Amino acid sequence: MSYDCISLNRREKIGIIKLQRPEALNALNHQMIKELDQVFMEWEADEYVRAVIITGEKNFAAGADINDMLDFNPEQARAFSFRHCFARIEAFSKPVLAAISGFALGGGMELALVCDWRIADKTARLGLPEINLGIFPGAGGTLRLPRLIGAARAKEMIFSGRTINVEQALQYGLINQLADDALAETIQTAEMLASKPPVALKLAKQCINQAFDIDGTKAIEFESIAWASCFATRDQQEGMKAFIEKRKPEFTGT
Ligand code: CAA
Repeated sequence: MSYDCISLNRREKIGIIKLQRPEALNALNHQMIKELDQVFMEWEADEYVRAVIITGEKNFAAGADINDMLDFNPEQARAFSFRHCFARIEAFSKPVLAAISGFALGGGMELALVCDWRIADKTARLGLPEINLGIFPGAGGTLRLPRLIGAARAKEMIFSGRTINVEQALQYGLINQLADDALAETIQTAEMLASKPPVALKLAKQCINQAFDIDGTKAIEFESIAWASCFATRDQQEGMKAFIEKRKPEFTGT
């Protein structure tokens, strides 16, 4: 498949997706969402991809494309919703990182919220300004933002539509890290994650994602089953032997 709205790059075990509609500050349209969905489907099946970075040309993304939405009726709005694609990214079995420069607004910030790890530089501006358009965040923001930063801060951002800078984003816990060069730092972090045992990483991600959706007892039960299944992997043997032999483990994903 050829891509019109994104570009792809591979750095050994890292897949890098760049949102590429700079003329519209990378506003997310139907085609871009379709392309994102396709890449995540392909890289899910690609065992050589161990971590994925989403970034943008100059900006991260200034939200859903407002030109597309102007004349929607409610049915069309629901069909345009990014929920299926964003759910795929959130459930992706390998770490997904957002490298954020410039605007990450509306659906763009919600895309960053489905990532596992967010690194931003000083140019980053984050916000959910949908309220100023007569709507509110509709790509998971009302669920994922309060989970991440608490209901009070989430309401503040969603009700006011206010854009925050990177220091505030760090203070709120909205980003993991402030870096001089967001992409370079994110690549380093992705390389670190790509060296970890993939099965344990995948199961840890599943446990954390599930923990919010099921009751506590079930979550702990699920964790114990997932944790025990690590003992069926060679990587568990390798990790523990390497510790005892005082050497660095070499994980293979088996
Ligand atoms: N949709 C469509 N086009 C957009 C866009 C968007 N979300 N954001 C920016 N653009 C376009 C602008 O229309 C402009 O195009 P033209 O050059 O053809 O006029 C171009 O990108 C550059 O933008 P500006 O001239 O506005 O740049 P600026 O630096 O003056 O302002 C900005 C930057 C503050 C981000 C401003 O562009 C802006 O407010 N954008 C809209 C942000 C927004 O409201 N996002 C939420 C969208 S709704 C949503 O995401 C719904 C959801 O929950 C899924």
